[in-house]
Amino acid sequence: MGVNLSGRSFLKLLDFTPAEINYLLDLSREFKNMKRNGVPHRYLEGKNVVLLFQKTSTRTRCAFEVGAMDLGMGVTYLDPNSSQMGKKESVQDSAYVFGRMFDGIEFRGFKQSDVDDLAKYSGIPVWNGLTDDFHPTQMLADVLTIQEEFGQNVKGKKMVFFGDARNNVANSLMVVSAKLGMHFVACGPKELMPAEDLVKTCKEVAKETGAVIELTSDAKAAAKDADVIYTDIWVSMGEPVEKWQERIDILKPYQVNKELMACAKDTAIFLHCLPSYHDRNTENGEWVFETFGMDGVEVTNDVIYGHQSRCFDEAENRMHTIKAVMYATLK
Ligand code: CP
Ligand code: NVA
Repeated sequence: MGVNLSGRSFLKLLDFTPAEINYLLDLSREFKNMKRNGVPHRYLEGKNVVLLFQKTSTRTRCAFEVGAMDLGMGVTYLDPNSSQMGKKESVQDSAYVFGRMFDGIEFRGFKQSDVDDLAKYSGIPVWNGLTDDFHPTQMLADVLTIQEEFGQNVKGKKMVFFGDARNNVANSLMVVSAKLGMHFVACGPKELMPAEDLVKTCKEVAKETGAVIELTSDAKAAAKDADVIYTDIWVSMGEPVEKWQERIDILKPYQVNKELMACAKDTAIFLHCLPSYHDRNTENGEWVFETFGMDGVEVTNDVIYGHQSRCFDEAENRMHTIKAVMYATLK
């Protein structure tokens, strides 16, 4: 039977089969070709979506806005201070209201239960644009970028995540790797390893797909023979600024730099969901430099701008993949 995601929400990748994930990736490729070739695809004219952001964003917001507009839809953006949700109106009541006016909801925020509740009460497709636990739309862009480099069959490809291996991005990378039969290594200090229940779930999935899921604190051994080296910021949105000192102390050995990249395959690529602290050209980057003396944090400038980096292709792919998710669930 063919894949049909019409009416479904996109809350976390554990809810999707490998065939469904591959369907979304195929669709993303088609949308990318159409966009590149100037082929109009206003397939969802007359529909409207609302984008709810409790945390800041560049890529995710822009991908949803441009994606929705390319599909011919109307878009309403609500930041944390411009709607009643939270302070004066519950998620449940807000969901009832949005469900009466819109065809789909994107939510970026803190609690996974909030995005789940929006889906439960709105009656329309809801897309998770990042919570404290997961970042599922990011994964589609990441896998599309890996496929563009190595071909569509990603089974057995070794991806190593360095750093805060229990954050939203690392969790989702472990899930998508399990679903698609990849070899995933979470590499970081013991204190920042993914939750045991999620590892157990992913290992169960891996039994069916042939994936390998490993956790290690040995950075050089982890990087050996890697096809994809991945990292993310060391203190995520919503975490207190006081975390920086502690994270720098325990994460320094996991910085992705030239030496670490040299341990991977010569053909390896570097991915980062972005934004990244790799220089002093941002307020935060300068603050980290002045406070901790680090010029570049989770990754160095030479890696992020180096010949193995595919970060900006990955960023572009957010739009094609998010468009595919909206189209597949709203058509
Ligand atoms: N990667 C990502 O989600 O980027 P933004 O925070 O800019 O949306
Ligand atoms: N782990 C990061 C991802 C940003 C896209 C955060 O949550 O801030």
